[in-house]
Amino acid sequence: MTPLRIACIGKHGQTAQALHAAAGYASIELRQAGRDGADLTDPEALEAFLLQSKPHVIINAGSYNFLDRAETDEATAFAVNAEGPRTLARLCRRHGVELIHMSTDCVFDGAKPSPYTEEDDPGPLSAYGRSKRAGEIAVAQEHPEAITTRVCWVFSEFADSFISKAIGWARTQASLRIVSDQIGTPTYAPDIALALLRIARVKVDGAHDLHGLLHLASPEVMTRLDMARAIMAESRRQGGPFAEIEPVTTAAFNAPARRPLNARLSGARASERLGITWTPWQTALERSVAGVLARGGW
Ligand SMILES: NC(=O)c1ccc[n+]([C@@H]2O[C@H](COP(=O)([O-])OP(=O)(O)OC[C@H]3O[C@@H](n4cnc5c(N)ncnc54)[C@H](OP(=O)(O)O)[C@@H]3O)[C@@H](O)[C@H]2O)c1
Repeated sequence: MTPLRIACIGKHGQTAQALHAAAGYASIELRQAGRDGADLTDPEALEAFLLQSKPHVIINAGSYNFLDRAETDEATAFAVNAEGPRTLARLCRRHGVELIHMSTDCVFDGAKPSPYTEEDDPGPLSAYGRSKRAGEIAVAQEHPEAITTRVCWVFSEFADSFISKAIGWARTQASLRIVSDQIGTPTYAPDIALALLRIARVKVDGAHDLHGLLHLASPEVMTRLDMARAIMAESRRQGGPFAEIEPVTTAAFNAPARRPLNARLSGARASERLGITWTPWQTALERSVAGVLARGGW
């Protein structure tokens, strides 16, 4: 079996940190750089990173993920989320490197009454969603063999996620307003990291004809309200901060960027084709809350 050499765009982000932890267990040689060494808006830095790390596979876990800010800074969102992936895909193809790109449920409009599959038509509601969709298209144009994974409501003990945010808010607020009418498939970042490594292995071994879109989503379905309540209950159980949850509608919350009310992704194709499995929700929640509480800082 060829020893795997993987380069990852993104170092301090949630998926990037989960990949770092997973690669250690899987004895994979992983090189990582974020904005410091592989800025997606800097083609020369990207090419230098690729030439230095000589990977079999590049995983792009770098992204401009500020949904609300993107409404007034669409140019930056497109530079990082669309033009950066286009350059990266072009470079990967030129140098014979496999590419695994990452995208989001926010490419959908949320009107579908069931989980979104890879066959469903995108219809982004926000500047962020449009920039991510443009990135998907650019990657497919420049590197047809590339895989674009889509993920939804990523959480973990790493970096900044809904878990660390909710616990942080609960430190200073007795009650949190959380939307009750957005439903999604919360997915544990360490599981996503393992799935990305599995895809990388399959691509390098040439075991499957695997390219195009692939949803990486756990089968767990819940609203943001359910998720916040579960986080608060688990935080309290582990001796951390607790706040009451006040349900609000998305309309009343009135965030600058529109989110899909139905953000559910179907992970069926990934499970069937690659045997991807998911940590049970309660176990993943307990680990995430424990990790966030242990590192303090929230
Ligand atoms: N978090 C979610 O709930 C969620 C939901 C749907 C989809 N996704 C998708 O999942 C992927 C990973 O997201 P995440 O939540 O792990 O990310 P994250 O925690 O928000 O971190 C963002 C990452 O992007 C890197 N980055 C930002 N601007 C960059 C630039 N100009 N050049 C290079 N790297 C840059 C950061 O680099 P540094 O390491 O230098 O800080 C960091 O590693 C993204 O494609 C995102 O759209 C996430």
